Amino acid sequence: MKVTIVGAGNMGRGIGRRMVAGGNEVELVDQNPEDSRTLAEELGELATSNRSVTGEVVVLALPYEAVAAAVAEHQEGIAGRVVIDIVNPVDWSTMETVTTPPGTSAAEETAQLVPEGTKVVKAFNTTFAKTLLAGEVAGQKLQVLIAGDDEQAKKTVASLVEAGGMTALDVGPLRRARMLEQVGLFHIAIQQQIGTGFASALSLRWDAP
Ligand SMILES: NC(=O)c1ccc[n+]([C@@H]2O[C@H](COP(=O)([O-])OP(=O)(O)OC[C@H]3O[C@@H](n4cnc5c(N)ncnc54)[C@H](OP(=O)(O)O)[C@@H]3O)[C@@H](O)[C@H]2O)c1
Repeated sequence: MKVTIVGAGNMGRGIGRRMVAGGNEVELVDQNPEDSRTLAEELGELATSNRSVTGEVVVLALPYEAVAAAVAEHQEGIAGRVVIDIVNPVDWSTMETVTTPPGTSAAEETAQLVPEGTKVVKAFNTTFAKTLLAGEVAGQKLQVLIAGDDEQAKKTVASLVEAGGMTALDVGPLRRARMLEQVGLFHIAIQQQIGTGFASALSLRWDAP
């Protein structure tokens, strides 16, 4: 499968690494083409740099504030695709709240921006970029929490996650992104306290019945 990652920053690198590990083609698109070229070289022969979006799955690895403009710019390439929103809309001045209005989430806002028929899935916002490079922490696979309203789209994302050596957990409809973004905020906010330097991982575990 070809996965386009818009945004060749920290998360672009981490998710790109896992996608390539799963044997997928990775297309990198960045506002600075030099950055996407450099990351494509780093990720190896399965990765390319492009100015437009042509993948079947599109990861928006962008700051919250940049998502609307990028969606508008890449409308054509995004239309009808599976779009992964990874945003944590954190209020960095306090690190206590999200910046989305009550009753919605960054992912639901993205779903309002994309062309009709495009399936938005929330994923990867609870995994730190650093940990995605190895795909595991303390010998345990990363767990990627996934929310969305389209079952097939969630299955597509889950299969990419599993192929990349991680585990996927479907946590329900897209509105659960409101909670996932709070979990993302929590994980960021506690970093100073627990002192891992953004190298920790969250996961849910249980014994099989
Ligand atoms: N870092 C983490 O551990 C982590 C974990 C979970 C979720 N997230 C979320 O992931 C998203 C990305 O975070 P990050 O840490 O990867 O940020 P980052 O390192 O700043 O990377 C963002 C990249 O997007 C590029 N960009 C900005 N606007 C663009 C546009 N309109 N079109 C194309 N590219 C554009 C930036 O280019 P410039 O450098 O030129 O500005 C930069 O290369 C954020 O929403 C964040 O909340 C991050």
